[in-house]
Amino acid sequence: MSSTTVSGAKPGWKTVRFEVLEKTESLPSLSMVVSEFLALARREYFTAKDFETVISRDQALVARLLKVANSGLYGRSRSITSIPEAVVLIGVDNLKKIVYAVSSESLTKRRLDNYDYHPDQGFWLHSLGVGYATKVFVEASPGCPLHAEEGFVAGLLHDVGKLVIDEFLPVGQPRPITREEEIKAVGLDHAELAEYIMKLWNLPSSTSATVRFHHDYRNGGPMSAGAAALALAQEVCAAWNLGRTNAMDLSCEVPQKKYSELAEFLALDPTKWDQVIWDIRQSLVGLDDIFGED
Ligand SMILES: [Fe+2]
Ligand SMILES: [Fe+2]
Repeated sequence: MSSTTVSGAKPGWKTVRFEVLEKTESLPSLSMVVSEFLALARREYFTAKDFETVISRDQALVARLLKVANSGLYGRSRSITSIPEAVVLIGVDNLKKIVYAVSSESLTKRRLDNYDYHPDQGFWLHSLGVGYATKVFVEASPGCPLHAEEGFVAGLLHDVGKLVIDEFLPVGQPRPITREEEIKAVGLDHAELAEYIMKLWNLPSSTSATVRFHHDYRNGGPMSAGAAALALAQEVCAAWNLGRTNAMDLSCEVPQKKYSELAEFLALDPTKWDQVIWDIRQSLVGLDDIFGED
């Protein structure tokens, strides 16, 4: 990016902001399959056949899916050669997990120079991990208006704005960059930019508004519960160092009392906290193995 205007004057943040928004056009979009999953999940009833039809629209995705499905991860004795077979042999839930992991790769499998994610797979793992944790918290929160799959997509994309902002920051040591620093550098923070990107991709406004307020859930209006679920997901994943430069440790305790403000805001049943955390851990196990299956 050029740091000066044609006249040689240092551009104001309005100019940089415009360049940032322009740059978002070059981000690889999520596979259409993700939006179609959201539409499918909102239907009262869908069959494995509907699921296959959606996946089959993206042949590059199908090829990667079959490769991962045939890896050692699922312990099959014979090879899987088609999506209908994969549905039967590894199940819709596992297949969906691979679809999300694979379809987010081109977007999130990147090294960020200024943010403190693990250089190899940190941002991808953080995005997926927060996606799964948000999904589980959304399901456990009685008043949350989001569908579970929408919670997943919001979590997956919550920090996508950092991918663009990173290129506009002066190169430095990876560290936690504050939202104030982002605004000072480019005129908007990563949450606002993520909302813009998600609107550009025609994702439901419920998901983009949730993401917009993930650092400010109390101001999220009708989406404040979704934003709180995302904020809580992020805190729990941070406690496990998911995607960070320090080693990931899923065994680290995450007692509810440490997160009582968010848990109370979401009206989570305290007796179900341990189960919810267990469900999140289960959804995260094996993610880094999928990553290795190139
Ligand atoms: Fe995050
Ligand atoms: Fe964030």
